[in-house]
Amino acid sequence: MNKTPSLSRREFVRFISGTTAGVLLGTPTGTTASSDNSIPFVTASDKDAVRLANGLSYRILISWGDVINASGDKFGFNNDYIDFVRINDDPLDLLLWVNHESASYGYFPTPKEGNKKTREDVELERTEVGGSILRLKKSGKNWNIVYNDQYNRRIDARTPIPFVADAPIQGKTLAIGTLANCAGGRTPWNTILSCEENYHYYTGEVDLRKKRKYVKQPTVGWERFYDMPPEHFGWVVEIDPFTGKAKKHTSMGRFAHESATVVTANDGRCVVYSGDDKTNQFLYKLVADKPGSLDSGKLYAADTRNGSWLLLDHMDNPDLRGHFRNQLDLLIRTREAAAMAGATPLDRPEDIERNPQSGAVFVTLTKNQEAGRPFGSILKIEEKNNDPLSLNFTATKFLTGGEETGFACPDNLAFDKVGNLWFASDIAGNQLNQSPYSSFKNNGLFMVPMRG
Ligand code: FEO
Repeated sequence: MNKTPSLSRREFVRFISGTTAGVLLGTPTGTTASSDNSIPFVTASDKDAVRLANGLSYRILISWGDVINASGDKFGFNNDYIDFVRINDDPLDLLLWVNHESASYGYFPTPKEGNKKTREDVELERTEVGGSILRLKKSGKNWNIVYNDQYNRRIDARTPIPFVADAPIQGKTLAIGTLANCAGGRTPWNTILSCEENYHYYTGEVDLRKKRKYVKQPTVGWERFYDMPPEHFGWVVEIDPFTGKAKKHTSMGRFAHESATVVTANDGRCVVYSGDDKTNQFLYKLVADKPGSLDSGKLYAADTRNGSWLLLDHMDNPDLRGHFRNQLDLLIRTREAAAMAGATPLDRPEDIERNPQSGAVFVTLTKNQEAGRPFGSILKIEEKNNDPLSLNFTATKFLTGGEETGFACPDNLAFDKVGNLWFASDIAGNQLNQSPYSSFKNNGLFMVPMRG
C-alpha cells in the first residue's frame, strides 16, 4: 500500500499510474477532499505499476482481445475516450463506449513495417481500431461487462459510415471505416461523438489541389490493399450506441480532431468545441443550425490573441471564397481556412471541458517542444456573457506545466460533481523518465480544487 501523506486543499491530489491495456474501474471510498481540510495523495513514481491513494482500488473490466458478442467480435486495441449512456434511464445499466485509437505499435502478430504486411495482416489490424459498444451493469458492489449482450458490437475500420455532406467526397457518399479514434463527447440526445485524430498514419495526406501527390506518406501499410482517400478521415463520427448507426459529420471540419465537447446554448442549439492536436494548429467551435442535430452549423476558429471566434464560411469571407471551391472544399481543408482567417496557432490543443459551475471552457495545450514549451499548459476561455453562442471571449492561462506545478503534458480533462478539475498527463512513452521530463516520473491523474 502506498504511503499517504496529507496536502492542503490548495495542493494537488496526484494519482500516479503506469499503463494498462484494459479499462480500469476505480472505487472511490472517500479519498477526495476530506472534512479535516487535508487530502491524501500519491507521490510520483517510475515503477511500472498502477499506484492509487489509500481507499482506492481497481480491477480490470475488460482486456484487449476479449470476445464481446456471439459474432465473435473482440475488444479492440489502445483504449482512449470512454463514455456511457443509461439504458431505460437506469443508473446501474449502461452502454459503455470505448475508443480504440491505433493498431500501429507492433504488438500484433503482424510485421511492424507497413511494406511487409500481407492483406491478411492488414485485415486483422483493421478490426483493432474504431470503438466498442458494451453493456455494463452493476450488481452488488461491482460493475461488470455483460458479455454476449445484444447491444455489444464493434465499429471499426471496415464499417461503412455515411457522410453528412453537401456532396459526395472523392466520389463517395460513405467512408469505409473509422480509425485513429482519440477523445470525443456525448450529445444531449445520448449519442457518442468519436474523433478521428491521427488518420494520416493510415491514409497519408495528399495535396488536394495538385494531382493528389502525397505530402505525408502513410506509414502502416493499409493503403497497399485498400482505397483510403485521406478526405474520408479526420472527421467527428456520431454513433447511436443503441443501434450502432454511425455518421461522419463534415460540419465540425476535418483535421486531427482530439475532442468534441458539447454545450447546449439557451436557445437549445448545441455548441461543440474541438481542438486540432497538432503543433501550431487551432481551436474550433461549431454552432449548430438547430436544436437536436449537428448535421449543419457555423464553424469558427479561435483568435485567442484578440478573443474572437472567426467564421469559416466560404460565402462570408472574400479571401476564403477565392481560395476554396465551395463550403465542403473549405471543410475538407479546414486547417488552411483557419490559418487564412487569422486563427491563433496553439501548443497542440487536446481535451476540452466546460466547468459546469462557472461556464468557463478549459483546453489542455499539451506541449510545444520546438517553441521551448515542453511541459504544456491549460488554457481558460471565458465566453462573453458566459454565452457559448458569443463570438467574443477572454483567453487566459490557467495553469502552466513545469517542475513548480509538478505536472507536464496535460491531456484529458474532467470536472467532478463538486467542481474540482481533474486532468491526466500524457508524457510520450518514449520520453518518460528522461530529460526534460525526469522529475515528473510516470504519467498520472491530477486534481485541482477550483475553490477554497
Ligand atoms: Fe490521441 Fe492527441 O491524443
